[in-house]
Amino acid sequence: MAEAVAEGIKRKFDIFQISRYNKLIPHRKAGQCPLNRKDVVIPAGDLEKQRDFTRRAAGYLARLGREPRAFVDTYGCQQNVSDSQRIMGMLREMGCVLVREAAEADIIAVNTCAIRENAEKKVFGVVGQLVHVKEKNPDAVICLCGCMAQRRLVAEKIKASYRHVDLVFGPQALWKFPELLCSVLSRRQRVFSIEEEHGSIAEGIPVVRESGVKAWVSIMYGCNNFCSYCIVPYVRGRERSREPEAVLAEVRELAEAGYKEITLLGQNVNSYGKDLDTPMDFADLLAEIDRIPGDYLIRFMTSHPKDAGEKLFRTMARCAHVAHQLHLPVQSGNSRVLKAMNRGYTREQYLEKVRQAREAMPDLVLTSDIIIGFPGETEAEAMDTVSLIEEVRYDALFTFLFSPRPGTPAAVMADPASRAEKQVWFDRLLDAQNRISAELHQGYVGKTVRVLVDGESGDGAWPLSSRTHGGRLVHLRGGRELIGQYVDVKITDSNTWALFGEV
Ligand code: SAH
Ligand code: SF4
Ligand code: F3S
Repeated sequence: MAEAVAEGIKRKFDIFQISRYNKLIPHRKAGQCPLNRKDVVIPAGDLEKQRDFTRRAAGYLARLGREPRAFVDTYGCQQNVSDSQRIMGMLREMGCVLVREAAEADIIAVNTCAIRENAEKKVFGVVGQLVHVKEKNPDAVICLCGCMAQRRLVAEKIKASYRHVDLVFGPQALWKFPELLCSVLSRRQRVFSIEEEHGSIAEGIPVVRESGVKAWVSIMYGCNNFCSYCIVPYVRGRERSREPEAVLAEVRELAEAGYKEITLLGQNVNSYGKDLDTPMDFADLLAEIDRIPGDYLIRFMTSHPKDAGEKLFRTMARCAHVAHQLHLPVQSGNSRVLKAMNRGYTREQYLEKVRQAREAMPDLVLTSDIIIGFPGETEAEAMDTVSLIEEVRYDALFTFLFSPRPGTPAAVMADPASRAEKQVWFDRLLDAQNRISAELHQGYVGKTVRVLVDGESGDGAWPLSSRTHGGRLVHLRGGRELIGQYVDVKITDSNTWALFGEV
Protein backbone atom coordinates (compact mmCIF):
# COMPACT_ATOMS: atom_id res chain seq x y z
CA MET A 1 0.00 0.00 0.00
CA ALA A 2 2.80 2.38 0.92
CA GLU A 3 4.36 1.78 -2.48
CA ALA A 4 1.10 2.46 -4.29
CA VAL A 5 0.78 5.75 -2.48
CA ALA A 6 4.37 6.65 -3.19
CA GLU A 7 3.95 5.97 -6.87
CA GLY A 8 1.02 8.33 -6.98
CA ILE A 9 3.38 11.16 -6.17
CA LYS A 10 5.85 12.44 -8.71
CA ARG A 11 9.33 12.18 -7.29
CA LYS A 12 12.41 13.01 -9.27
CA PHE A 13 15.06 11.73 -6.91
CA ASP A 14 15.86 11.61 -3.24
CA ILE A 15 18.52 13.85 -1.78
CA PHE A 16 20.75 13.37 1.21
CA GLN A 17 21.81 16.88 2.18
CA ILE A 18 25.42 17.47 3.02
CA SER A 19 25.99 19.99 5.73
CA ARG A 20 27.81 23.16 4.84
CA TYR A 21 28.59 23.78 8.43
CA ASN A 22 30.59 21.34 10.36
CA LYS A 23 31.66 17.81 11.00
CA LEU A 24 31.22 15.87 14.19
CA ILE A 25 34.13 15.98 16.63
CA PRO A 26 34.93 12.35 17.36
CA HIS A 27 34.06 10.70 20.61
CA ARG A 28 37.60 10.46 21.97
CA LYS A 29 38.20 14.21 21.72
CA ALA A 30 34.79 15.37 22.85
CA GLY A 31 35.77 16.27 26.40
CA GLN A 32 39.03 18.06 25.72
CA CYS A 33 38.05 19.81 22.57
CA PRO A 34 35.59 22.66 23.12
CA LEU A 35 34.01 23.96 19.95
CA ASN A 36 35.13 27.16 18.35
CA ARG A 37 32.30 29.68 18.74
CA LYS A 38 32.57 30.89 15.18
CA ASP A 39 31.89 27.35 13.93
CA VAL A 40 28.87 27.01 16.17
CA VAL A 41 26.80 30.18 16.04
CA ILE A 42 24.75 30.40 12.85
CA PRO A 43 25.36 33.81 11.23
CA ALA A 44 22.45 36.25 11.08
CA GLY A 45 22.56 36.21 7.26
CA ASP A 46 21.91 32.47 7.16
CA LEU A 47 19.02 32.82 9.56
CA GLU A 48 17.60 35.59 7.38
CA LYS A 49 17.73 33.19 4.41
CA GLN A 50 15.59 30.78 6.39
CA ARG A 51 13.04 33.56 6.78
CA ASP A 52 12.99 33.85 2.96
CA PHE A 53 12.35 30.12 2.78
CA THR A 54 9.54 30.54 5.30
CA ARG A 55 7.89 33.07 2.98
CA ARG A 56 8.40 30.77 0.00
CA ALA A 57 6.91 27.82 1.87
CA ALA A 58 3.94 30.03 2.77
CA GLY A 59 3.56 30.75 -0.96
CA TYR A 60 3.47 27.04 -1.86
CA LEU A 61 1.02 26.30 0.93
CA ALA A 62 -1.25 29.19 -0.14
CA ARG A 63 -2.00 27.18 -3.30
CA LEU A 64 -4.22 24.95 -1.17
CA GLY A 65 -6.75 27.78 -1.34
CA ARG A 66 -7.49 27.47 2.37
CA GLU A 67 -5.57 27.75 5.63
CA PRO A 68 -2.89 25.04 5.65
CA ARG A 69 -3.00 22.80 8.71
CA ALA A 70 -0.07 21.30 10.61
CA PHE A 71 0.27 18.67 13.30
CA VAL A 72 3.37 18.10 15.43
CA ASP A 73 3.62 14.84 17.39
CA THR A 74 6.29 14.81 20.10
CA TYR A 75 8.11 11.93 21.83
CA GLY A 76 11.01 11.96 24.28
CA CYS A 77 12.37 14.49 26.73
CA GLN A 78 11.72 18.17 27.42
CA GLN A 79 14.41 19.09 24.92
CA ASN A 80 12.21 17.55 22.25
CA VAL A 81 9.14 19.33 23.61
CA SER A 82 11.06 22.57 23.33
CA ASP A 83 12.25 21.72 19.78
CA SER A 84 8.66 20.94 18.79
CA GLN A 85 7.60 24.36 20.03
CA ARG A 86 10.12 25.82 17.57
CA ILE A 87 8.90 23.61 14.71
CA MET A 88 5.37 24.81 15.49
CA GLY A 89 6.67 28.39 15.55
CA MET A 90 8.15 27.99 12.06
CA LEU A 91 4.98 26.31 10.75
CA ARG A 92 2.85 29.09 12.14
CA GLU A 93 5.02 31.67 10.37
CA MET A 94 4.30 29.76 7.15
CA GLY A 95 0.62 30.48 7.75
CA CYS A 96 -0.33 27.08 9.20
CA VAL A 97 -2.93 26.58 11.88
CA LEU A 98 -1.99 23.88 14.36
CA VAL A 99 -4.39 20.94 14.63
CA ARG A 100 -4.55 17.99 17.02
CA GLU A 101 -4.93 15.09 14.58
CA ALA A 102 -2.59 13.87 11.86
CA ALA A 103 -5.62 13.01 9.70
CA GLU A 104 -6.58 16.69 9.50
CA ALA A 105 -3.13 17.99 8.64
CA ASP A 106 -1.33 19.01 5.44
CA ILE A 107 2.04 18.93 7.19
CA ILE A 108 2.80 16.32 9.84
CA ALA A 109 6.01 16.34 11.86
CA VAL A 110 6.84 13.41 14.15
CA ASN A 111 9.56 14.53 16.56
CA THR A 112 11.19 11.33 17.77
CA CYS A 113 13.27 9.93 20.65
CA ALA A 114 16.00 7.28 20.38
CA ILE A 115 16.81 6.79 24.05
CA ARG A 116 15.46 3.23 24.34
CA GLU A 117 14.39 0.59 21.86
CA ASN A 118 10.75 0.82 22.99
CA ALA A 119 10.67 4.52 22.20
CA GLU A 120 11.82 3.76 18.64
CA LYS A 121 9.37 0.90 18.16
CA LYS A 122 6.52 3.15 19.14
CA VAL A 123 7.55 5.75 16.57
CA PHE A 124 7.83 3.18 13.77
CA GLY A 125 4.26 2.12 14.62
CA VAL A 126 3.02 5.72 14.50
CA VAL A 127 4.85 6.48 11.26
CA GLY A 128 3.58 3.26 9.67
CA GLN A 129 0.01 4.35 10.38
CA LEU A 130 0.57 7.67 8.60
CA VAL A 131 0.43 5.84 5.28
CA HIS A 132 -3.37 6.00 5.63
CA VAL A 133 -3.22 9.78 5.99
CA LYS A 134 -1.19 9.93 2.79
CA GLU A 135 -3.73 7.74 0.98
CA LYS A 136 -6.50 10.18 1.82
CA ASN A 137 -4.40 13.27 1.21
CA PRO A 138 -1.54 12.49 -1.21
CA ASP A 139 -0.31 16.09 -1.00
CA ALA A 140 0.27 15.85 2.75
CA VAL A 141 3.94 16.25 3.70
CA ILE A 142 5.16 13.80 6.34
CA CYS A 143 8.31 14.74 8.26
CA LEU A 144 10.30 12.60 10.67
CA CYS A 145 12.63 14.61 12.87
CA GLY A 146 14.35 14.47 16.26
CA CYS A 147 16.89 12.06 17.68
CA MET A 148 15.85 8.91 15.79
CA ALA A 149 16.10 10.75 12.50
CA GLN A 150 19.75 11.44 13.23
CA ARG A 151 20.54 7.70 13.28
CA ARG A 152 21.70 6.65 9.85
CA LEU A 153 20.23 3.16 10.15
CA VAL A 154 16.84 4.60 10.99
CA ALA A 155 17.04 7.05 8.09
CA GLU A 156 17.93 4.21 5.72
CA LYS A 157 15.02 2.11 6.96
CA ILE A 158 12.67 5.04 6.44
CA LYS A 159 14.13 5.65 2.99
CA ALA A 160 13.66 2.05 1.91
CA SER A 161 10.47 0.95 3.65
CA TYR A 162 8.46 4.02 4.62
CA ARG A 163 8.13 5.67 1.22
CA HIS A 164 5.31 7.91 2.40
CA VAL A 165 7.74 9.90 4.57
CA ASP A 166 8.90 12.98 2.65
CA LEU A 167 11.37 14.69 4.92
CA VAL A 168 13.83 13.32 7.49
CA PHE A 169 16.03 15.67 9.50
CA GLY A 170 17.94 15.40 12.76
CA PRO A 171 18.00 17.88 15.67
CA GLN A 172 21.10 19.58 14.27
CA ALA A 173 19.18 20.59 11.12
CA LEU A 174 16.11 21.96 12.91
CA TRP A 175 16.97 25.57 12.13
CA LYS A 176 16.97 24.72 8.40
CA PHE A 177 13.43 23.30 8.49
CA PRO A 178 11.98 26.07 6.24
CA GLU A 179 14.61 25.36 3.56
CA LEU A 180 14.16 21.58 3.78
CA LEU A 181 10.39 21.89 3.61
CA CYS A 182 10.67 24.18 0.58
CA SER A 183 12.74 21.50 -1.21
CA VAL A 184 9.95 19.00 -0.60
CA LEU A 185 7.13 21.39 -1.51
CA SER A 186 8.75 22.79 -4.63
CA ARG A 187 10.03 19.61 -6.18
CA ARG A 188 8.03 16.85 -4.48
CA GLN A 189 11.19 14.96 -3.78
CA ARG A 190 12.13 13.20 -0.58
CA VAL A 191 14.75 15.03 1.47
CA PHE A 192 17.04 13.49 4.09
CA SER A 193 19.19 15.86 6.15
CA ILE A 194 20.99 13.74 8.70
CA GLU A 195 24.65 14.63 8.33
CA GLU A 196 26.63 13.91 11.49
CA GLU A 197 27.46 17.33 12.84
CA HIS A 198 28.77 18.69 16.08
CA GLY A 199 25.76 21.02 15.95
CA SER A 200 25.07 24.72 16.06
CA ILE A 201 23.25 27.46 17.91
CA ALA A 202 20.53 29.34 16.07
CA GLU A 203 18.92 32.27 17.89
CA GLY A 204 15.60 33.89 17.11
CA ILE A 205 13.64 30.88 15.81
CA PRO A 206 9.94 31.58 16.48
CA VAL A 207 8.31 29.53 19.21
CA VAL A 208 4.77 28.50 20.12
CA ARG A 209 4.53 28.00 23.88
CA GLU A 210 1.96 25.59 25.22
CA SER A 211 0.56 27.80 27.97
CA GLY A 212 1.00 31.22 29.46
CA VAL A 213 2.17 29.68 32.73
CA LYS A 214 5.18 27.43 32.07
CA ALA A 215 8.01 27.78 29.58
CA TRP A 216 11.15 25.88 28.60
CA VAL A 217 14.40 27.69 27.88
CA SER A 218 17.28 25.70 26.41
CA ILE A 219 20.53 27.03 27.76
CA MET A 220 22.76 24.53 25.98
CA TYR A 221 22.60 21.71 23.48
CA GLY A 222 24.38 18.40 23.00
CA CYS A 223 26.41 16.28 25.37
CA ASN A 224 30.11 15.40 25.73
CA ASN A 225 29.79 12.80 28.46
CA PHE A 226 29.38 9.61 26.45
CA CYS A 227 27.93 7.53 29.24
CA SER A 228 28.52 4.07 27.80
CA TYR A 229 24.81 3.18 27.45
CA CYS A 230 23.58 6.47 26.00
CA ILE A 231 22.74 7.45 22.43
CA VAL A 232 22.28 11.18 23.12
CA PRO A 233 25.86 12.35 22.38
CA TYR A 234 25.68 10.61 18.99
CA VAL A 235 22.41 12.21 17.95
CA ARG A 236 22.58 15.60 19.65
CA GLY A 237 26.18 16.52 18.86
CA ARG A 238 28.76 18.24 21.06
CA GLU A 239 28.09 20.49 24.04
CA ARG A 240 27.44 24.08 23.10
CA SER A 241 26.13 26.87 25.32
CA ARG A 242 23.93 29.76 24.34
CA GLU A 243 25.38 33.18 25.10
CA PRO A 244 24.29 34.32 28.59
CA GLU A 245 22.81 37.52 27.10
CA ALA A 246 20.51 35.46 24.87
CA VAL A 247 19.34 33.29 27.79
CA LEU A 248 18.83 36.33 30.04
CA ALA A 249 16.86 38.17 27.34
CA GLU A 250 14.57 35.17 26.85
CA VAL A 251 13.95 34.73 30.59
CA ARG A 252 13.32 38.47 30.99
CA GLU A 253 10.79 38.40 28.17
CA LEU A 254 9.00 35.42 29.73
CA ALA A 255 8.96 36.97 33.21
CA GLU A 256 7.56 40.21 31.76
CA ALA A 257 4.89 38.24 29.87
CA GLY A 258 3.79 36.76 33.21
CA TYR A 259 5.20 33.23 32.93
CA LYS A 260 5.37 31.73 36.39
CA GLU A 261 7.61 28.74 35.91
CA ILE A 262 10.65 28.71 33.66
CA THR A 263 12.66 25.49 33.25
CA LEU A 264 16.21 25.77 31.97
CA LEU A 265 17.13 22.82 29.77
CA GLY A 266 20.33 21.03 28.87
CA GLN A 267 21.55 17.43 28.86
CA ASN A 268 23.97 18.50 31.55
CA VAL A 269 23.31 22.06 32.65
CA ASN A 270 26.34 21.91 34.94
CA SER A 271 28.58 21.98 31.87
CA TYR A 272 27.08 25.33 30.88
CA GLY A 273 29.60 27.91 29.78
CA LYS A 274 32.67 25.70 29.33
CA ASP A 275 32.72 26.54 25.63
CA LEU A 276 31.98 30.27 25.90
CA ASP A 277 34.69 32.76 24.95
CA THR A 278 34.27 34.38 28.36
CA PRO A 279 33.66 31.37 30.55
CA MET A 280 30.82 31.56 33.01
CA ASP A 281 29.46 28.57 34.87
CA PHE A 282 25.91 27.43 35.51
CA ALA A 283 25.83 28.82 39.06
CA ASP A 284 26.86 32.24 37.70
CA LEU A 285 24.11 32.05 35.11
CA LEU A 286 21.53 31.18 37.78
CA ALA A 287 22.64 34.14 39.89
CA GLU A 288 22.32 36.47 36.88
CA ILE A 289 18.86 35.14 36.01
CA ASP A 290 17.77 35.55 39.62
CA ARG A 291 18.27 39.31 39.34
CA ILE A 292 15.47 39.55 36.76
CA PRO A 293 12.46 40.97 38.59
CA GLY A 294 9.11 39.14 38.58
CA ASP A 295 6.96 36.55 40.29
CA TYR A 296 8.42 33.43 38.69
CA LEU A 297 10.24 30.26 39.66
CA ILE A 298 13.30 28.81 37.94
CA ARG A 299 13.78 25.06 37.61
CA PHE A 300 16.44 23.27 35.59
CA MET A 301 17.33 19.86 34.27
CA THR A 302 19.42 17.82 34.03
CA SER A 303 22.35 18.07 36.42
CA HIS A 304 25.16 15.57 36.01
CA PRO A 305 26.43 14.67 39.51
CA LYS A 306 30.08 14.77 38.46
CA ASP A 307 29.83 18.53 37.79
CA ALA A 308 27.38 19.50 40.56
CA GLY A 309 29.02 21.00 43.60
CA GLU A 310 28.83 23.31 46.58
CA LYS A 311 28.95 26.48 44.50
CA LEU A 312 25.78 25.39 42.68
CA PHE A 313 24.01 24.31 45.87
CA ARG A 314 24.86 27.54 47.70
CA THR A 315 23.73 29.61 44.72
CA MET A 316 20.45 27.72 44.54
CA ALA A 317 19.90 28.28 48.27
CA ARG A 318 20.57 32.01 47.95
CA CYS A 319 18.54 32.79 44.79
CA ALA A 320 14.96 33.73 45.58
CA HIS A 321 13.62 32.60 42.18
CA VAL A 322 15.34 29.22 42.07
CA ALA A 323 13.32 26.19 43.20
CA HIS A 324 14.91 23.96 45.82
CA GLN A 325 14.60 21.03 43.50
CA LEU A 326 17.34 18.92 42.01
CA HIS A 327 17.10 16.13 39.47
CA LEU A 328 20.43 14.42 40.05
CA PRO A 329 20.47 11.13 38.12
CA VAL A 330 22.61 8.54 39.89
CA GLN A 331 21.92 5.63 37.44
CA SER A 332 23.43 3.03 39.81
CA GLY A 333 24.38 2.69 43.47
CA ASN A 334 27.39 0.49 42.74
CA SER A 335 30.79 2.02 41.99
CA ARG A 336 31.92 -0.76 39.63
CA VAL A 337 28.78 -0.36 37.54
CA LEU A 338 29.13 3.43 37.61
CA LYS A 339 32.65 3.06 36.23
CA ALA A 340 31.44 0.75 33.46
CA MET A 341 28.76 3.32 32.71
CA ASN A 342 31.48 6.00 32.41
CA ARG A 343 29.64 8.24 34.85
CA GLY A 344 32.70 9.84 36.44
CA TYR A 345 31.76 9.44 40.16
CA THR A 346 31.54 6.70 42.77
CA ARG A 347 28.68 5.83 45.10
CA GLU A 348 30.49 7.61 47.96
CA GLN A 349 31.14 10.76 45.93
CA TYR A 350 27.50 10.88 44.89
CA LEU A 351 26.28 10.49 48.48
CA GLU A 352 28.63 13.28 49.55
CA LYS A 353 27.08 15.62 46.93
CA VAL A 354 23.61 14.78 48.21
CA ARG A 355 24.76 15.58 51.74
CA GLN A 356 26.18 18.94 50.59
CA ALA A 357 23.03 19.79 48.66
CA ARG A 358 20.81 19.03 51.65
CA GLU A 359 23.05 20.96 53.98
CA ALA A 360 22.64 24.03 51.75
CA MET A 361 18.89 23.43 51.23
CA PRO A 362 17.24 21.40 54.01
CA ASP A 363 13.90 21.56 52.14
CA LEU A 364 15.43 20.18 48.91
CA VAL A 365 13.23 17.95 46.74
CA LEU A 366 15.48 15.38 45.14
CA THR A 367 14.74 13.06 42.20
CA SER A 368 16.86 10.73 40.10
CA ASP A 369 17.10 8.37 37.13
CA ILE A 370 18.08 4.72 37.57
CA ILE A 371 19.05 2.04 35.07
CA ILE A 372 18.60 -1.56 36.17
CA GLY A 373 20.24 -4.40 34.27
CA PHE A 374 23.29 -2.66 32.82
CA PRO A 375 25.40 -5.35 31.05
CA GLY A 376 27.25 -7.45 33.61
CA GLU A 377 25.34 -6.06 36.59
CA THR A 378 24.87 -8.74 39.24
CA GLU A 379 22.00 -9.11 41.66
CA ALA A 380 24.18 -7.82 44.51
CA GLU A 381 25.12 -4.75 42.45
CA ALA A 382 21.50 -4.05 41.60
CA MET A 383 20.69 -4.33 45.32
CA ASP A 384 23.37 -1.69 45.97
CA THR A 385 21.14 0.62 43.95
CA VAL A 386 18.18 -0.32 46.14
CA SER A 387 20.25 0.38 49.27
CA LEU A 388 21.33 3.73 47.83
CA ILE A 389 17.77 4.86 47.26
CA GLU A 390 16.89 3.72 50.81
CA GLU A 391 19.76 5.85 52.05
CA VAL A 392 19.00 8.94 49.95
CA ARG A 393 15.18 8.69 50.14
CA TYR A 394 14.39 10.42 46.85
CA ASP A 395 11.05 12.16 46.49
CA ALA A 396 10.56 10.35 43.17
CA LEU A 397 12.50 8.24 40.68
CA PHE A 398 12.49 7.61 36.94
CA THR A 399 13.44 3.96 36.52
CA PHE A 400 14.49 2.16 33.34
CA LEU A 401 15.55 -1.31 32.29
CA PHE A 402 18.77 -1.17 30.29
CA SER A 403 18.13 -1.05 26.56
CA PRO A 404 21.09 -1.63 24.21
CA ARG A 405 21.54 1.26 21.76
CA PRO A 406 23.41 0.32 18.59
CA GLY A 407 26.72 2.14 18.30
CA THR A 408 27.21 2.69 22.05
CA PRO A 409 29.92 0.77 23.97
CA ALA A 410 27.39 -0.90 26.29
CA ALA A 411 25.50 -2.42 23.36
CA VAL A 412 28.37 -4.85 22.75
CA MET A 413 29.18 -5.65 26.39
CA ALA A 414 28.44 -9.18 27.65
CA ASP A 415 25.00 -9.18 29.23
CA PRO A 416 24.46 -12.52 30.95
CA ALA A 417 21.50 -11.70 33.24
CA SER A 418 18.12 -12.64 31.81
CA ARG A 419 15.30 -10.20 31.25
CA ALA A 420 13.25 -12.06 33.89
CA GLU A 421 16.02 -11.66 36.50
CA LYS A 422 16.37 -7.98 35.73
CA GLN A 423 12.61 -7.55 36.07
CA VAL A 424 12.76 -9.02 39.60
CA TRP A 425 15.47 -6.50 40.58
CA PHE A 426 13.49 -3.72 38.92
CA ASP A 427 10.32 -4.62 40.85
CA ARG A 428 12.24 -4.62 44.15
CA LEU A 429 13.54 -1.15 43.35
CA LEU A 430 10.05 0.08 42.51
CA ASP A 431 8.56 -1.39 45.69
CA ALA A 432 11.18 0.36 47.79
CA GLN A 433 10.72 3.70 46.00
CA ASN A 434 6.93 3.55 46.10
CA ARG A 435 7.08 3.04 49.84
CA ILE A 436 9.55 5.95 50.26
CA SER A 437 7.52 8.32 48.04
CA ALA A 438 4.32 7.44 49.93
CA GLU A 439 6.05 8.09 53.29
CA LEU A 440 7.49 11.41 52.16
CA HIS A 441 4.13 12.48 50.72
CA GLN A 442 2.38 11.51 53.97
CA GLY A 443 4.68 13.98 55.70
CA TYR A 444 2.99 16.85 53.82
CA VAL A 445 -0.50 16.06 55.15
CA GLY A 446 -1.78 18.79 57.46
CA LYS A 447 0.80 21.31 56.23
CA THR A 448 0.12 24.46 54.21
CA VAL A 449 2.27 24.84 51.08
CA ARG A 450 2.51 27.35 48.26
CA VAL A 451 1.71 25.91 44.86
CA LEU A 452 1.44 27.14 41.30
CA VAL A 453 -1.86 26.09 39.74
CA ASP A 454 -0.82 24.96 36.28
CA GLY A 455 -3.87 23.43 34.65
CA GLU A 456 -6.92 21.20 34.76
CA SER A 457 -6.54 17.59 35.86
CA GLY A 458 -9.55 16.10 34.06
CA ASP A 459 -10.66 14.55 37.38
CA GLY A 460 -14.06 15.80 38.52
CA ALA A 461 -13.33 15.44 42.25
CA TRP A 462 -9.96 17.24 42.07
CA PRO A 463 -10.32 19.45 38.99
CA LEU A 464 -7.04 21.39 39.19
CA SER A 465 -3.43 20.32 39.06
CA SER A 466 -0.65 22.28 40.69
CA ARG A 467 2.99 21.94 41.75
CA THR A 468 4.79 22.78 44.96
CA HIS A 469 8.01 24.79 44.72
CA GLY A 470 9.84 21.47 44.88
CA GLY A 471 7.81 20.22 41.92
CA ARG A 472 5.51 17.74 43.71
CA LEU A 473 2.12 17.29 42.09
CA VAL A 474 -0.89 18.51 44.11
CA HIS A 475 -4.47 17.81 42.99
CA LEU A 476 -6.74 20.65 44.06
CA ARG A 477 -10.36 21.59 44.45
CA GLY A 478 -11.13 25.01 42.99
CA GLY A 479 -12.18 26.99 39.93
CA ARG A 480 -10.36 27.48 36.59
CA GLU A 481 -9.73 31.14 37.44
CA LEU A 482 -6.91 29.96 39.71
CA ILE A 483 -4.87 28.62 36.77
CA GLY A 484 -1.62 30.55 36.50
CA GLN A 485 -1.70 31.75 40.11
CA TYR A 486 0.33 30.93 43.17
CA VAL A 487 -1.95 29.92 46.06
CA ASP A 488 -1.48 28.57 49.56
CA VAL A 489 -3.10 25.18 49.98
CA LYS A 490 -3.67 22.87 52.89
CA ILE A 491 -2.63 19.32 52.10
CA THR A 492 -5.42 16.98 53.17
CA ASP A 493 -4.35 13.64 51.69
CA SER A 494 -1.58 11.90 49.75
CA ASN A 495 -0.61 8.74 47.92
CA THR A 496 2.54 7.38 46.26
CA TRP A 497 2.37 9.72 43.30
CA ALA A 498 0.68 12.90 44.45
CA LEU A 499 -0.71 15.14 47.16
CA PHE A 500 -4.29 16.37 47.51
CA GLY A 501 -5.19 19.76 48.89
CA GLU A 502 -7.64 22.60 49.36
CA VAL A 503 -7.15 26.30 48.77
N1 SAH B 1 21.33 13.91 30.31
C1 SAH B 1 20.59 13.26 31.28
C2 SAH B 1 19.84 12.04 30.82
C3 SAH B 1 19.14 12.01 29.54
S1 SAH B 1 18.44 10.47 29.12
C4 SAH B 1 21.53 12.81 32.38
O1 SAH B 1 22.67 12.56 32.15
O2 SAH B 1 21.07 12.66 33.46
C5 SAH B 1 17.32 10.18 30.47
C6 SAH B 1 17.56 8.90 31.18
O3 SAH B 1 17.34 7.80 30.33
C7 SAH B 1 18.98 8.69 31.69
O4 SAH B 1 19.23 9.38 32.86
C8 SAH B 1 19.02 7.20 31.88
O5 SAH B 1 18.57 6.85 33.16
C9 SAH B 1 18.04 6.68 30.83
N2 SAH B 1 18.73 6.01 29.74
C10 SAH B 1 19.59 6.54 28.86
N3 SAH B 1 20.04 5.60 28.00
C11 SAH B 1 19.45 4.43 28.37
C12 SAH B 1 19.53 3.09 27.90
N4 SAH B 1 20.30 2.76 26.89
N5 SAH B 1 18.77 2.15 28.51
C13 SAH B 1 17.98 2.48 29.55
N6 SAH B 1 17.87 3.72 30.04
C14 SAH B 1 18.61 4.69 29.47
FE1 SF4 C 1 23.42 10.54 28.07
FE2 SF4 C 1 25.23 10.68 29.96
FE3 SF4 C 1 24.96 12.70 28.26
FE4 SF4 C 1 23.09 12.24 30.07
S1 SF4 C 1 25.20 12.84 30.49
S2 SF4 C 1 22.78 12.66 27.91
S3 SF4 C 1 23.09 10.01 30.23
S4 SF4 C 1 25.65 10.65 27.78
FE1 F3S D 1 15.17 11.09 23.57
FE2 F3S D 1 16.70 12.73 22.23
FE3 F3S D 1 15.68 13.48 24.52
S1 F3S D 1 17.04 10.57 22.47
S2 F3S D 1 15.53 11.59 25.66
S3 F3S D 1 14.54 13.01 22.72
S4 F3S D 1 17.67 14.04 23.70
